[in-house]
Amino acid sequence: MEKGGHQWRRLHLLLALAGWGWGWTAQALPSNRSALLLAQRINEREGPFLGLVVPTSFEMDAIRQQTIFAPHPYIPWLDLAGRRFHIGTIQGHKVVLVQSASAMLNAAITTQQLLDFFDINGVLHYGIAGSANDSLTIGDISIPKYWAHTALWNWEKFSNGSGHLLSSGPNGDFTQDLGHLHFSDFAYPNNGHSQNLLTSVWSQPEDVLKVSGTPEVRSRAFWVRVDKRFYKAAKTLEGMELTSCFNATTCLSIRPKVVVGLRGASSNIFVDNAAYRQFMFQTFRVSSVDMESAAVALVCYSNEVPFIVIRSISDSAGNAEGANEVSAFKNLASLNAVKVLTQFLKALPKQDSPHDQGMILICARAARAMATKLTSVLKPRKKGMSPQKKKKKIILSDADQAIGASEKRVARALVYPSASSTDVAEDEDDVEEMLRQFDLDAKFGPCVGLSRIERWERAQRHGLCPPQNIRDVLERVGGEPNCLWEGRV
Ligand SMILES: *[C@@H]1O[C@H](CO)[C@@H](O)[C@H](O)[C@H]1NC(C)=O
Ligand SMILES: *[C@@H]1O[C@H](CO)[C@@H](O)[C@H](O)[C@H]1NC(C)=O
Ligand SMILES: *[C@@H]1O[C@H](CO)[C@@H](O)[C@H](O)[C@H]1NC(C)=O
Ligand SMILES: *[C@@H]1O[C@H](CO)[C@@H](O)[C@H](O)[C@H]1NC(C)=O
Repeated sequence: MEKGGHQWRRLHLLLALAGWGWGWTAQALPSNRSALLLAQRINEREGPFLGLVVPTSFEMDAIRQQTIFAPHPYIPWLDLAGRRFHIGTIQGHKVVLVQSASAMLNAAITTQQLLDFFDINGVLHYGIAGSANDSLTIGDISIPKYWAHTALWNWEKFSNGSGHLLSSGPNGDFTQDLGHLHFSDFAYPNNGHSQNLLTSVWSQPEDVLKVSGTPEVRSRAFWVRVDKRFYKAAKTLEGMELTSCFNATTCLSIRPKVVVGLRGASSNIFVDNAAYRQFMFQTFRVSSVDMESAAVALVCYSNEVPFIVIRSISDSAGNAEGANEVSAFKNLASLNAVKVLTQFLKALPKQDSPHDQGMILICARAARAMATKLTSVLKPRKKGMSPQKKKKKIILSDADQAIGASEKRVARALVYPSASSTDVAEDEDDVEEMLRQFDLDAKFGPCVGLSRIERWERAQRHGLCPPQNIRDVLERVGGEPNCLWEGRV
């Protein structure tokens, strides 16, 4: 322990000496510097992690109560930027768990910080939600396939009689394609010819700056699709047993179920209104509404990091008589959300598996190791140290640091070339395009006389680091099995 402490101090000193690269990091982030350095060290040694973003304390308590989270033996948490990042494992997966506080802004900030501070290769988000679909009842779990932020609104001008007018915006980019909420449709009692000075609002897509995109050039996103690999693992959870009893005497009247593949919406609105709920279902075909998921989804989309969301129905979003049910049902709902999360992690292949994208990061690191002068920070090895210990070398230099971050981004971009799209069309074309790019990349060797997978494996044997996602695509999605050139040369 003493020796460990000495090494930490030594590390800090060296990091301080490492120059303005680090000074810049510390200045740019409103955080505790030593916690940042520890995060860096944890990333080097133990990353990548799955990130878990949890909205509020009772959703966090559900994880504690079920004792599924095993904290890291030395660094169980780090406090950064007013948040506590819990480090540990769940079901053998290395995770960083953080509570965001409620609503879109908090969820977005926290997700971005998680991605900036830690080496994260996927984000899981869970919590409770209101049901917007009559076939989703309290206690059910929804794992949607698509997410949208539905309340980025453009508010139409009232005009007396001669039709309303939506501004087209400075660049002509306000659309009238998405949700149209026309207030006089909701007059009560509705005598058929009422007007409403609030006229209508139209939903707009979000502007997104993607990490692999051109800086300052936005793309737009409304429906964001969850990661395919995560989705596949989630699909296996349909039919799993959920808790339906509060205690020995009180149970839900309908057995709760897991539903995978619907649509969810989020906004800074706590929906407790039957008419709005119905509008949401009819207009967007969404089955659940909450206040964070789409923010997490959009941040992951922008960062090109895979994500999935598990939401547990705690109330009917205003459809029932009397007070909102959330206070009575939130504990049971969070309990079930955590139960499904645990099962999901069980079903998800481990990061260390050779078929996982972890490999591409290792490949990127190997390439970096060749290209960069390395600085070993630890003391010279002593005789008799176990071979395992010898491997634990910390590699730090400004260049290394800078390259590391950008490579990670590149690796992410490679692994997940198109996590989602503005519309919901499937992206078979993208897949074929990606495979063609692979065919055309001369660095992986000639393409003649062998299948794509054989070429991939040959490249792998020769240490050329072929992108793991290509292999995944060939295995899972299929695609044209032969090289672009096959039969044409
Ligand atoms: C900075 O973070 C470290 C590690 O989490 C903690 O021990 C320390 O108390 C923090 N210092 C301040 C000033 O917040
Ligand atoms: C509503 O939920 C049920 C499952 O409970 C699902 O089968 C149905 O497709 C959902 N409706 C829409 C419009 O998504
Ligand atoms: C709309 O027009 C009618 C008839 O011209 C007028 O009585 C009414 O005050 C107008 N309402 C508003 C909000 O301008
Ligand atoms: C069981 O839970 C219900 C609902 O929360 C509560 O009303 C009831 O008092 C509880 N019964 C016992 C025996 O704890």
